[in-house]
Amino acid sequence: MKRDIISVLDMKDDFEAILADAAKMKKEPAKKGHKQEPLRGKVLGMVFEKPSLRTRISFELGIHQLGGKALYIGPDEVSIGKRESVSDVAQVLSRYVNAIMYRAFSNKVMRELATAASVPVINGLDDMEHPCQCAADLLTVLEKKGKLAGLNMAYVGDGNNVCNSLLLGCALTGMNMRVATPKDHRPNEEIVSKAQELAKSKDCAVEVLSNPFQAVEGADVIYTDTWVSMGQEKEREEREKLFLPYQVNDKLAEKASQDYIFMHCLPAHRGLEVSAEVMDGPHSVVFDQAENRTHAQKAILVAVLGK
Ligand code: CP
Ligand code: NVA
Repeated sequence: MKRDIISVLDMKDDFEAILADAAKMKKEPAKKGHKQEPLRGKVLGMVFEKPSLRTRISFELGIHQLGGKALYIGPDEVSIGKRESVSDVAQVLSRYVNAIMYRAFSNKVMRELATAASVPVINGLDDMEHPCQCAADLLTVLEKKGKLAGLNMAYVGDGNNVCNSLLLGCALTGMNMRVATPKDHRPNEEIVSKAQELAKSKDCAVEVLSNPFQAVEGADVIYTDTWVSMGQEKEREEREKLFLPYQVNDKLAEKASQDYIFMHCLPAHRGLEVSAEVMDGPHSVVFDQAENRTHAQKAILVAVLGK
């Protein structure tokens, strides 16, 4: 049966193994015990409804390093659901490529495409989740802190797709997560419940608050993301005002553990969700995160296509 990665939960049973594999590929790209080109001859179709720097380049580079090839299909080329139905696009692409990476506006359309495709579908971001980002993020935490279980992550800002995936990823790996958002911008309720349920079995806690200082208290990791996700541009002005108390800056970070790391999936907006001093300061690991997209996704591609 094909394996789709639409949610972090689709890596529930082997998430830590995927992270370990990613770390191994990063450290020993060509050493014994790890086949150099396990995806030789495989083709990944990458369908984008929105712009991308990291997702596009890291997937393209990753599959190339594994011996395969990527095809970029931009928003104007397919126009999913407008020029052609989602189901027809999925079935046609399934005749050409071995897997589809899809960046979508809607999680509903993402799932529709995955249902109709006979090849694996990997979520390269939709309005609900960003699972590949989460894998790269937790690989980064593991590298910087040497462990995941028992650490405290504080996510401050908008309870968006990145936040949803982190909630699941932290719960799966035994990390405590505190989220602070304005009350109308909390993360998806169903995901919070799932994360809380998972957290119980992993002996960690998930809390959703509204006070950023409370969330950051004693944090090992402070994470934020844009206040205006792709597709929300019309709400920019209103959001930028509403979220201002949630800016990650030195004053907020004072509450964190002394050796906290600052994380952001990028693109970042200095002076909005993060101050320049934090973004460019000694605690920031944002470019390691960006690099780790390649390593994490190589492990995901092998898990989906290589066995
Ligand atoms: N973080 C991330 O997914 O970046 P892109 O939108 O540039 O792909
Ligand atoms: N939450 C952001 C993430 C960008 C990588 C968005 O959806 O635009």
